[in-house]
Amino acid sequence: MATLVTFFSAGGKTANVAKEFASRIGADVFEIVPQEPYTSADIKWTNPVARCNREQIAGKEVPVNGKIEDFDKYDTVYIGFPIWYGQAPRVIHTFGKGYDWSGKAVHAFATSGGSGIGKTAEKLKPSLAGVASLDAKLVHSADEL
Ligand SMILES: Cc1cc2nc3c(=O)[nH]c(=O)nc-3n(C[C@H](O)[C@H](O)[C@H](O)COP(=O)(O)O)c2cc1C
Repeated sequence: MATLVTFFSAGGKTANVAKEFASRIGADVFEIVPQEPYTSADIKWTNPVARCNREQIAGKEVPVNGKIEDFDKYDTVYIGFPIWYGQAPRVIHTFGKGYDWSGKAVHAFATSGGSGIGKTAEKLKPSLAGVASLDAKLVHSADEL
């Protein structure tokens, strides 16, 4: 069985951690890219009508580019993302709903602007159908994974 590192990153911080970690453990990598990429205006959360706020308030789906091939071959999947509004961004929920997580161990990891990991795992679980185990931690570098 194999390990996969997936991640979404709007500003590059989570991407750096994910890529460094994946290269250290020799895992495959899948970058979660929204079909409609975020512009800097889209993620300006201080603007009440910015895309990020509209998506969050409405609990919208955020479709993802591409599909992971041979998802069945992975028994361990890392999912990295920035904390948005105290939990995983909407795009992570949409990504999760696209796969069958039966039998897989999922390790979620996040970077943040200061918030803790909070209830990220509990809130993400319903989007990972059948997941065998799930944990989540806040990280500042690949050393913490
Ligand atoms: C829409 C949005 C919401 C955010 N919400 C939070 C939050 O609730 N708590 C926090 O500590 N940081 C929050 N942040 C900051 C990011 O979590 C932080 O800058 C993260 O490290 C960015 O990772 P990235 O460069 O991989 O996108 C938010 C950022 C954005 C764009």
